Amino acid sequence: MDKIAEIKSAFDSEISLCETLQELQELKVKYLGKSGELTVLLKSIKDLPAEERPTFGAKVNVLRGELESEFSKRSEQLKQMEMQRRLQEERVDISLTSSQPLGALHPVTLIENQISELLVAMGFEVLSGPEIETDYYNFQALNIPSDHPARDMQDTFYVTDSILLRTHTSPMQARHMEKKKPPIKMICVGKVFRSDSDASHSPVFHQIEGLVVDKNITLCDLKGTLEYIASNLFGKDTKVRFRPSFFPFTEPSVEVDLSCSNCGGKGCSLCKGTGWIEVLGAGMVNPFVLENCGIDSKKYNGYAFGIGVERIAMIKYGIPDIRLFYENDQRFLKQFGK
Ligand code: DAH
Repeated sequence: MDKIAEIKSAFDSEISLCETLQELQELKVKYLGKSGELTVLLKSIKDLPAEERPTFGAKVNVLRGELESEFSKRSEQLKQMEMQRRLQEERVDISLTSSQPLGALHPVTLIENQISELLVAMGFEVLSGPEIETDYYNFQALNIPSDHPARDMQDTFYVTDSILLRTHTSPMQARHMEKKKPPIKMICVGKVFRSDSDASHSPVFHQIEGLVVDKNITLCDLKGTLEYIASNLFGKDTKVRFRPSFFPFTEPSVEVDLSCSNCGGKGCSLCKGTGWIEVLGAGMVNPFVLENCGIDSKKYNGYAFGIGVERIAMIKYGIPDIRLFYENDQRFLKQFGK
């Protein structure tokens, strides 16, 4: 019986010194293994007088049970400690900032995406067309013959006599109408080119062209569409105003003004005291253009508009000079990052 108590106390102090699973396993062999302390003790039972054997055997078994449960307790503890140690040692610091600065969308792209998404939600399909265009699609198909004074409105970069850099996205109206018959609801987003450069003109800029052709389209449909875009871009109280204008490819043509988002229409330096800002050109598609593209103008009509993307971005973000968009100054571009 003394021996049992002795083994128990030796075991208690040894197990508390075990620091690894390996050491614990060795201890287990020492006590519970084939020639371990407890096994030897159990074997010594035969040397006892018969009447003492059952009590002795029972006590040894109780001790075995105790040792086994302490082994598994300690083993669990050591596994936990091991896990904690590894978590500490193998930790990856995901907060480390990369030396590569994060990119962001260009303000022109932001506005392009925003307007396109609104129009796509209204059922417009998005097309793109060639930046190097023929005189035919850029001008003639749009009711601007070679001798037409309206050609002066757009300072054109010519590649040859009949090939040029498109001066607007309108040629996609003609290209699309030649292929697809009404109902048509499309936009074309992209770069356009003009030989012009100052604080509000750039030789390359971006436009979004819109075209709807169907039966019984009215100026009200055009106005509703533009009001929806304007209120999403500049706030729901933004008003849309049409002024008579002229484009050879629309009849009637309108110049579209928005109530100034800066002063709410009271008059400020942005709107030059008028309360209105001119943003785009639009109108009802000229029947000549429909007929040029093989669409029966007695049956169908439509509206079109051309939005200058930079112009909208300049108003929305308060940018005073169009050249800032193309200089790629990080201090300017960073302001549009998320
Ligand atoms: N293409 C014209 C320009 O660049 C803008 C424009 C005006 C487009 C009226 C249109 C429109 O579709 O209907 O100056």
